Amino acid sequence: MPTLLLTGGAGFIGSQLARTLTQAGFTVRVLDLLTYAGRREHVDGVPCELVVGDVCDPGLVADAVDGCQVVVHAAAESDVSRSLHGGAACVRTNVEGTRVVLDAAAHAGVEHFLLLSTDEVLGEVLGGPAPGPDAPLRPGNPYAASKAGAEALVHAWHKSFDLSTAIVRCVNAYGPRQHPEKAVPWWAQDALRGRIVPVQGLGTAVRDWIYVEDLARGIARALERWQSGAIWHFAAHDQQRNLAMARRVLAACAVHTGRLAQIEFVEDRRGQDRRYALDDSATRRALDWAPSVDLEQGLARTVAWIQQKGLALWS
Ligand SMILES: NC(=O)c1ccc[n+]([C@@H]2O[C@H](COP(=O)([O-])OP(=O)(O)OC[C@H]3O[C@@H](n4cnc5c(N)ncnc54)[C@H](O)[C@@H]3O)[C@@H](O)[C@H]2O)c1
Repeated sequence: MPTLLLTGGAGFIGSQLARTLTQAGFTVRVLDLLTYAGRREHVDGVPCELVVGDVCDPGLVADAVDGCQVVVHAAAESDVSRSLHGGAACVRTNVEGTRVVLDAAAHAGVEHFLLLSTDEVLGEVLGGPAPGPDAPLRPGNPYAASKAGAEALVHAWHKSFDLSTAIVRCVNAYGPRQHPEKAVPWWAQDALRGRIVPVQGLGTAVRDWIYVEDLARGIARALERWQSGAIWHFAAHDQQRNLAMARRVLAACAVHTGRLAQIEFVEDRRGQDRRYALDDSATRRALDWAPSVDLEQGLARTVAWIQQKGLALWS
C-alpha cells in the first residue's frame, strides 16, 4: 500500500482519517503544527509517524512529502467564528498553506492529491434542491472564502501541472476529538459540567450533520476508487435547526448527568449562513457509500468520549 502524507492529522477529522487510513493499509505520515486544535494525544495508539511543522514552510513540506505517493490535505484554520475576528490566519494557512502543499506534491510527482473542503464554499442554500459539485462558489465568511481559495488553487494545479487531484466537500462533521469551539462539543461540555448552554440567535440556522467515522470511510473510498478531477460531496440528509440539534445533544448528555441542561439564546454570529446543503447523490452512486451512524448513535458515542476524555483534555 502507498505511503500517504496527511496534513492536519492531529486535528479532529484528520485524527479519524489517520485511524481509518492506517486500518485500510496506508502507511501514514502526519504533518501537523499542533495549533490549539491539534493534539498529539489525538493520534495516541495510531501507527503513524507525526511530523510537527507548518504547511506554510516549503522546505519542511518538501521533506515531509518525500517518498509519499498520496497527499490528503486536511490542515486548516477551521473555525468560522475565529475567522470573523480576523481572516489573516485563515488566508495564510488555508490558501498559502495549500499552495505550498500543492507545489511540494507536484514537484515530488505524487499520484493523488486530495483536498478536504467544506459545504460552506457554496454559501447559504435557502430553498430549492441541494447544490451539486458543479454549483458556483459563493462563500459567505472569511473561513469559507479561504477554503474556496484553496479549491481554486487545486483546480489550477490540476490543469497547469497535471497534478491528479480531487476535492471532498462535506457537511458539518461531529464526533470524538473535536475542539470545543465547535457547536456539538461546546454544548456537550457545558451540559456535562452543569452549565447553561448557549445557542446563537434563535437557533434557526440549519445544518446537516455527518458522523466523523462515516466521513473518513467515504474519503478512504474516494482514494480507493480514485477519479482525477472529482469533487465528492458527503452529506447525511439529516438536517437540523441548531436549536433542535442542541436539544438532541442535551438529551445525550442527560444520560450521564441525570438532568437536562438549560438553554439560553446568545448573540448570533455575524453574517450567519441560514442553511447549508449538499447533493451527494453522485458520490453515493460512484463510491457506493452511505452513512451508517445515525444522529442518535453518533451523539451517544461523541458525548461518551467527551465525558471520558474530552472534559479533561480541554479543561
Ligand atoms: N469539522 C467540520 O465540520 C468540517 C466540515 C467541512 C470541512 N472541514 C475541513 O476539514 C479539515 C479538517 O477540519 P477539522 O474540523 O478536523 O479541523 P481542526 O481544526 O480540528 O484540525 C485542523 C488541524 O490542522 C492543524 N493545522 C492548523 N494550521 C496548521 C499549519 N499551518 N500547519 C500544519 N498544521 C496545521 C491543526 O493543528 C489541527 O490539527 C479542514 O480542512 C476543514 O476546513 C471540516
